[in-house]
Amino acid sequence: MKWLSRKVTCNSHGQDSSYFLGWQEYEKNPYDEFQNPNGIIQMGLAENQLSFHLSESWLSRNPDAAGFKRDGESIFKEIALFQDYHGLPAFKNALVGFMEKIRGHKVSFDPKKLVLTAGATSANETLIFCLAEPGEAFLLPTPYYPGFDRDLKWRTGVEIVPIHCSSSNGFRITQSALDDAYKQAQKSNLSVKGVLITNPSNPLGTTVSREELSLLINFVSAKEIHLISDEIYSGTVFDSPDFISIVEELKDKNLEDTDVWNRVHIVYSLSKDLGLPGFRVGAIYSNDEIVVAAATKMSSFGLVSSQTQYLLSAMLSDKMFTSNYIAENQKKLRERHDMLVLGLQEVGISCLKSNAGLFCWVDMRHLLSSNTFEAEMELWKKILYKVGLNVSPGSSCHCTEPGWFRVCFANMGEETLKLSLQRIKAFVESTMTSNNDVGAYSQRQSPRNSRRRSIPNWVLRLSSHDRESDR
Ligand SMILES: Cc1ncc(COP(=O)(O)O)c(C=O)c1O
Repeated sequence: MKWLSRKVTCNSHGQDSSYFLGWQEYEKNPYDEFQNPNGIIQMGLAENQLSFHLSESWLSRNPDAAGFKRDGESIFKEIALFQDYHGLPAFKNALVGFMEKIRGHKVSFDPKKLVLTAGATSANETLIFCLAEPGEAFLLPTPYYPGFDRDLKWRTGVEIVPIHCSSSNGFRITQSALDDAYKQAQKSNLSVKGVLITNPSNPLGTTVSREELSLLINFVSAKEIHLISDEIYSGTVFDSPDFISIVEELKDKNLEDTDVWNRVHIVYSLSKDLGLPGFRVGAIYSNDEIVVAAATKMSSFGLVSSQTQYLLSAMLSDKMFTSNYIAENQKKLRERHDMLVLGLQEVGISCLKSNAGLFCWVDMRHLLSSNTFEAEMELWKKILYKVGLNVSPGSSCHCTEPGWFRVCFANMGEETLKLSLQRIKAFVESTMTSNNDVGAYSQRQSPRNSRRRSIPNWVLRLSSHDRESDR
């Protein structure tokens, strides 16, 4: 296809990963209680639908906000004409206030250092454009959010080098994993520009510990590189330990106004904490003035519409609403999380212990027919087509151990979650009793290298570096 650009025809978008393929299969046969009761239940979408009643009730109490009005008077023209890419000051003030509240007011944010973007997707890409050249690299702990292949690599030409984390320590980031990833990048002649973490983690649903944050700060300080902390799930922490933002750790280490202070950047969005992915509200927060200025110019390519800013500045300025929302939402998330974890436990499936997010990281290694990514795909297809659940296989998150799946619990009603648990139960019971090849893996571990050889092609295409590591 000579007449099209390489961007269009290259594979680095990641569209052919099972993460996106599962969505396509779901679209063809979506579950509906009445219209399609045997359809596929979507458990591969990290959406938060648990607290809409709160935002909807706020909207009915505050009709001016969505009705282009101030004190009853129309401000339609003012909003329709507003196009300053610095954003509405009232909205930026309200957004930093919300971010501070989520962090228990342990840190404060300056709205001048905030750049508005069309979601965290745009925020992450914009930051990468600001911090790295095509062909340079960012290190990312695995497993990671499958969308990062698109967001960080596709248009920027920047490479992702995985920091391999393992189940042996609950997928925590270690010094040796960081060092190995750095060495791997050097071996591949890639200059490392930074590390990107998600805190809380997608797909693990865990908060990053103080020790890990400290390790990361020391690492980026020593290497003189950047640290991006995607804190899009910061408001979803429903259990201890508390969420610690990277800025809090920097403050506690007395690193304000130092070099590293300017090289740490936060990404945020209202897609998860407020359940508004359709509104496309994201932000970059950086202490580096040049990054803020450049990202502000770039934000022209993905601004947040002025009516959205107007509506949300009113909603987020209502302190009673935000306090109540955060607390209620966390309570609901905890209930849902517990329901999924206990339901899976009943059929012998365990989850990584988690305290945040809209999903669980589920261990189905004992259901694999062998310790390979082919077996993971085989199991994923069974779960998708036979059980009727779209979950995300660990390989789509670049997990190096076959058999882990991300399962979302906040994008559906309680009855649907109950049904999905019933379906899993029936599946596990039937396979355990009738089919000896499934589950047989736990008795006969295959050699380590056979796992590497059997990684499916699309996994290899998504991150060429995954296969190069042989630890
Ligand atoms: C870690 C992470 N970053 C960024 C995004 C993109 O979010 P947004 O809808 O704000 O673009 C997601 C969405 O799932 C995510 O999980």
